[in-house]
Amino acid sequence: MRTAYARRVLATIRSAAVIGIDAYDVSVEVDCAQGLPWFSVVGLPAGAVKESRERVSAAIVNSGFSLPARRTTVNLAPADRKKDGTGFDLPIALGVLVATGQIPADCVRHVAAVGELALDGAIRPVRGVLPVARLIARDRTATLIVPPGNVREAQLVGDARLAAPESLGELARQLRRRRLEVPDVVPKTDMVPLDGPDLREVIGQEAAKRALEIAAAGDHGLLLVGPPGAGKTMLARCMPTLLPALTQNEALEVIAVHSVAGVLLPERALSPVRPFRAPHHTISTAGLVGGSSPPRPGEVSLAHLGVLFLDEMLEFPRHTLDAMRQPLEDGHVVIARAAGSVRYPARFTLVGAMNPCPCGRAGDPTQRCTCAAADVQRYRARLSGPLVDRIDLNVTVKAVPVRQLAARDERECSADVRARVERARAHQRERYGTYPWSHANGRAPGRWLQTSTPIEGDARELLATAAERVGLSARGFHRVLRVARTIADLDDDEVTRASHIAEALRYRPVAAREVEEPTVQSA
Ligand SMILES: Nc1ncnc2c1ncn2[C@@H]1O[C@H](COP(=O)(O)OP(=O)(O)O)[C@@H](O)[C@H]1O
Ligand SMILES: [Mg+2]
Repeated sequence: MRTAYARRVLATIRSAAVIGIDAYDVSVEVDCAQGLPWFSVVGLPAGAVKESRERVSAAIVNSGFSLPARRTTVNLAPADRKKDGTGFDLPIALGVLVATGQIPADCVRHVAAVGELALDGAIRPVRGVLPVARLIARDRTATLIVPPGNVREAQLVGDARLAAPESLGELARQLRRRRLEVPDVVPKTDMVPLDGPDLREVIGQEAAKRALEIAAAGDHGLLLVGPPGAGKTMLARCMPTLLPALTQNEALEVIAVHSVAGVLLPERALSPVRPFRAPHHTISTAGLVGGSSPPRPGEVSLAHLGVLFLDEMLEFPRHTLDAMRQPLEDGHVVIARAAGSVRYPARFTLVGAMNPCPCGRAGDPTQRCTCAAADVQRYRARLSGPLVDRIDLNVTVKAVPVRQLAARDERECSADVRARVERARAHQRERYGTYPWSHANGRAPGRWLQTSTPIEGDARELLATAAERVGLSARGFHRVLRVARTIADLDDDEVTRASHIAEALRYRPVAAREVEEPTVQSA
C-alpha cells in the first residue's frame, strides 16, 4: 500500500517549451490528492503560466466537465527550468481531466499538447509551435495537439502527426472516441507574391539601383542618403526581391524565429521571400536586438537571412544602435538570464536611410538647404561606431524630377537583377567554401582579400593613389576592396581590376566619417 500511496502522479501529459528557437520536452504532471479544494502549479512557472489555473478552471467548467473538489497540484517537469507563456493551459486541462477520470488515461498515452485556453474552452494559438512540432515529430508514434490557429505552421514540419480541435470539449470527445481528427492540409504556396515593390517600379535612380545590386550580391551594408521623398524607402523595400530565394531549410529557420516571436504571418509559410523588417526609430533596445523576461527575438532576429532597414537612421538612440554590435559581428544575439542564456540567430543585410542634413533639403534641386556647414558635418558625424564598419556602400539619392516620373521607359525588373546576384553569390561560395565568413564578400576580412585574391597591378596602383589623395583610412581601404571584389564577381571576373576599384571608390562614405580613423598611406 505504501508504494501505491507514494505513486501520487495520477496523470502525465506530454508537452514542450521553447528556449531560443529550439523546443525541449516538458511533462505536465497532475496530482489530485485528499484535501481542501486548491489548485497550484509548481515547476518554475513564470508570468502567464501562473495565471493558467484561472483559465484552465474556467475552461473545464465551461466545457461541461467538473473540477476536482480536491487538492490539485500541477508540476511542470523538468522543474528547474523557468516556464513562461500560455501553451501549458491545454496539457494542464487534459491532465486534470485524466486525473479525475473524465478522460481515460490510455487515451492520452501517445499525444502531446500545446495551446492556450479561452475561458469558454476554445483553444487559442501560442508562440513557438514550429519548434515544438519539430521536436514531437521525432517520435513517430506521437500526435501533437495544436491550436487550429497554429496548424499551418505545424504542418510545415513534413512528418508531424497533428490534431487541431477547436475546443477542449471537442478534443475530449475525439480522445474518448480514440480517433483524433487529422486537420486538412493547407496547400503550400510555393511562390507567394513578393511583398516589396519590384525594381521595375522605381523610375531613374540608376546609381542607387546599382548599389542595391552590389549590396545584394555581396551582402554589404548599404546607406541611402537623400532628402525626404527621394525614394529611399521604396528602394530599400526592393532589396528582398533582389536577394536569392531562401532554401527550404533557411525558410524553416526564418519561420522558427517568427514563430517564437509570435509574429508569424500566414503568408510567411515556407515563403522563399526573405524577411524585410523596418523598425521605427522609437523602438526600444530590447525591441531591436531582443529582450529578456521572457526572452523574445528582436528585429535583428526577425530580419534573419533577410533585410533590416533602419529608416531615419540618425534618429535611433546611439545606445540602441550600439547594441547591434554583437549581431553585426557574430550573426546572432545572446540574451543572458539567470537561468542560462538564450541565443537567437541574427544574420541580416543592413540597409539604412538618412537625410543629408538636419533640414533634409541639401542636394534637393527644388529647395534650399538652410543648414550651416558645421551643422551638416556634426549631423553626419553622429553616425559612427559598429554600424559604420558594416556599411560598405554609401549612396546619395536625389529626388527624380516630376517630368521624368511620368516617362514610360523600359526598366529592368527585380528577377533580372536577382539572376546576376545569384551568379555572383555562386562565385563567392566557391571562393569561401571553407572559410567561416558566411560566403559573402561583405563579411570577408579586408586583409585576406588584399593578400589572397588576385588584384591587377593597375588596380593596386589606383587604390594606392586614392588612399593617398583622399586620405583613405585602413577600414575605408578594406571597404573599397570588398566592394570591388563584389563588382568583379558581378562581372564574372576572378581578378579585381582597376575599373572595379574605380566604381567601388564611388561608394565611399562622406568625408566626415573618415576623420576619426587612422590613415593608410599605401597599398
Ligand atoms: N524614382 C521613383 N520612382 C517611382 N516612384 C517614386 C520614385 N521616387 C519617389 N517615388 C514615389 O514617392 C513616394 C515617396 O518615396 P519614399 O520612398 O517614401 O521616399 P523617402 O523614403 O526618400 O522619403 C514613394 O512611395 C513613391 O511612390
Ligand atoms: Mg522614407
